Amino acid sequence: TSLAGCGKNEPGTAADQPLTSAAKLPEPFTARLPIPPVKRPSRSTSDTDHYELTAREANAEILPGLRTPIMGYDGIFPGPTIKARRGRRTVLHYRNQLGVPTVVHLHGGHTPAESDGFPTDLVLPAAGGSGYASQAVGGTTSAGTRDYTYPVDQQAATLWYHDHRMGFTGPQVWRGLAGFFLITDDEEAALHLPSGDRDIPLMITDRAFDADGAFTYPAMDPHLISMPGIDAAHMRGATGDVILVNGAPWPELPVAAVRYRFRILNASNARRYDLTLDPPAPLIQIGSDQGLLAAPISHTAITVAPAERFDVIVDFAAYPVGTKVVLRDGSGQVMRFAVTHKATDNSTIPARLAAVEPLPKSAATTRDWMFRQGKVQSMGHEADGWVINGREFDPQRIDATPKLGEVEIWRLASDTQHPVHIHLSPFQIISRNGGPPAPTDQGWKDTVDLSPHELVEVAIRFDDYAGRYLLHCHNLEHEDMAMMATFQVTR
Ligand code: C2O
Ligand code: CU
Ligand code: CU
Repeated sequence: TSLAGCGKNEPGTAADQPLTSAAKLPEPFTARLPIPPVKRPSRSTSDTDHYELTAREANAEILPGLRTPIMGYDGIFPGPTIKARRGRRTVLHYRNQLGVPTVVHLHGGHTPAESDGFPTDLVLPAAGGSGYASQAVGGTTSAGTRDYTYPVDQQAATLWYHDHRMGFTGPQVWRGLAGFFLITDDEEAALHLPSGDRDIPLMITDRAFDADGAFTYPAMDPHLISMPGIDAAHMRGATGDVILVNGAPWPELPVAAVRYRFRILNASNARRYDLTLDPPAPLIQIGSDQGLLAAPISHTAITVAPAERFDVIVDFAAYPVGTKVVLRDGSGQVMRFAVTHKATDNSTIPARLAAVEPLPKSAATTRDWMFRQGKVQSMGHEADGWVINGREFDPQRIDATPKLGEVEIWRLASDTQHPVHIHLSPFQIISRNGGPPAPTDQGWKDTVDLSPHELVEVAIRFDDYAGRYLLHCHNLEHEDMAMMATFQVTR
């Protein structure tokens, strides 16, 4: 059978409980942390690297002895890591071999609009996808393949790529359509940060599994959200009782007693993680969503909302050889590091990392964006959903028209918790509820977590590319239930 977005309804899931797996789950820390393979270009020219990437169905062994059907880029979850160097263009020759339309978005990419993955710019299934063409409202269709061009004219950073199909991003990412896209540059290379096998991407996701190993999902169909029993879990967003890091349940990584760089990405649909090390050691943050900070900041705990990235250094020299260090999520656990031996360490954590140009804290144009629950139209009837400024997403409506090259102040406000993401342009957080930003708000961001009843001001500049882009909640169920808006950068 095709995965075809056919989510299973799980009646009776309590609103604040994650989905519970029926499958037998492994003991934590028995799996070894997988590292997603780095993708090789199919062709490179003097200024461009070309990649062939195919989305297809596959089976993965995530739980021991069980097969999990996935949707995977190149048939794996996480997808392959793409490494790019600032100044060299990346062209993704993408092919959709799934049975459903897909859209590829490079999250955090400073990307021309036609390659940004607007949710109705559909890549139809390579085989017999024409029946879906009518879903491309206000967008374009391509039959089976599409080329995405990323200029990679931006600071070294941990980006990621994932599906962005309108109304179905939640179920399609849940089934596996996500991978890392890492940008390096000369400024970063000169710092002698931990590198090679001491520079490790960590994609954290939560999932739940049927008895036969298949992923469960609360509901795929936004039209069903008014039905009793399934609305609560779906309204809150899909969460599961199994934590995967790079696709493995509560894995372990053997480490030397030296400094490591971890690029933490929360690629979960809806869950936040409150990360600490146990026994305690500092998480030394060197980068945020959009690249290196001006200077390192030491945290004892970091909260990572969906789509946020934290680039941190952990110095395992603080622990005696033989120590098992658990990366905790509150009182739960995510993964474990086993300090196995001593080794030499030539890495440094320089006191100055990158030049971060401060944006002005006031500007001629201020815009208000209110993220809250509201009614949405769904196949001719009214249903519960999530709206911005009282309106559900309409791919044919433009909600704001910032001017190319100008700085604006955006005031983002919330009813409940919403991780808000803005495409195209990195931003700086100016204030939270009139007070200073949080210690974890430093640097260039593309996603900011709004707490209930919070007002966050950000400064953002619309550089380089005119065209149509999105802002939305990155709780993927909120996004699918219409919490998305469009801005058009105009000349
Ligand atoms: Cu990570 Cu619009 O998305
Ligand atoms: Cu994005
Ligand atoms: Cu939300």
